[in-house]
Amino acid sequence: MKKASQIISLAAVFVLIVALTAGCCKKNTQTMNVTQESFGMLADSTPVSLYTLTNDKGINMNVTNYGGIITSLMVPDKNGKSEDIVLGYDSLSGYLDKTPYFGAIVGRYGNRIAKGAFRIDGNEFHLPINDGPNHLHGGIQGFDKVVWDAKEFKTDSTVGLVLHYLSKDTEMGYPGNLDVTVTYSLNNNNELRFDYLATTDKPTPVNLTQHSYFNLAGDGDIKEQEMLIKASKYTVVDSLLIPTGELRDVKGTPFDFTAAKPIGKDLEATGGNPIGYDHNFVLDTKGLEEVAIKVTEPKSGRVMEVYTQEPGVQFYSGNFLDGTIKGKGGKVYKQYSGFCLETQHFPDSPNHAAFPNTILRPGEKYKTTTIYKFSK
Ligand code: BGC
Repeated sequence: MKKASQIISLAAVFVLIVALTAGCCKKNTQTMNVTQESFGMLADSTPVSLYTLTNDKGINMNVTNYGGIITSLMVPDKNGKSEDIVLGYDSLSGYLDKTPYFGAIVGRYGNRIAKGAFRIDGNEFHLPINDGPNHLHGGIQGFDKVVWDAKEFKTDSTVGLVLHYLSKDTEMGYPGNLDVTVTYSLNNNNELRFDYLATTDKPTPVNLTQHSYFNLAGDGDIKEQEMLIKASKYTVVDSLLIPTGELRDVKGTPFDFTAAKPIGKDLEATGGNPIGYDHNFVLDTKGLEEVAIKVTEPKSGRVMEVYTQEPGVQFYSGNFLDGTIKGKGGKVYKQYSGFCLETQHFPDSPNHAAFPNTILRPGEKYKTTTIYKFSK
């Protein structure tokens, strides 16, 4: 009798162990790889590709060479359950039709240039206006809406994609032929790295960034997700989001993220129309050694850290998403469905001599790196 009950309890322990193992640590079987497939074509028959980058740790990312758009990013949670943590569309047609820069490389100049006008060495330049009276994200056809040359690569520790684009002299009003290379890479430390490189043959403003919309929960809104930004100042903007030139202390304002807090905590208090964060934070960090931003999703346990060589970051809380966009799997993207962390130089820098310089000159190299690191 005693023996039978011992066997039963042993069996129960065994079942419990199996159940726990299955639930808590779903085995990840994928190995590092990069593949290419067709993602359709543009109206003029230009073919577009979709690349899949996988690491050994369960991260799986799709990128297209149209706009360098990250179309999906599957990241495991604390139980090993993977979810797509970026907003976007299922197919190329969505991106061709209408997109608030979902997942894209933004350039030649990320964010706004007031009235699209600036001077370099006394010469005046005028860029197309595409955001009220201002120029936004490189204009009507910025780097997010062109097809990049792409070449995938794989080393022992990394998979990646080298994207290249030659932006011609006067394209979108900008001076100079700008030769741009953006390298995306993914390693087994769960780091997604962006290396930007550009050279020019005439002085020109350059400010490249990545415009992925993240939702670390994979669904719902981002208000409970906790944000830490190591920035003690932000650039004050006017009602059309053009910097006034003032760098204001975040202390005592809704823009204080120097201690982690839920994005939703002071969101209403930011004011603005629409209400929310759409501001450039002046980072206290310098270089890739120190974490600049950390976002934590309490339920899934997903954590995203940002390391950057840029002096600023546009923290955008998806204020303009208004429920009119139906994205992946028919998901309706409402206000605050995702956040962007666009590492960058400050908006409208060509018109603010006191801001860090954004003018690239012949013979110089524009070279900057940002890393998004995921953990759980
Ligand atoms: C800008 C927002 C803009 C959004 C996308 C952000 O970088 O700061 O104002 O609405 O990009 O369209």
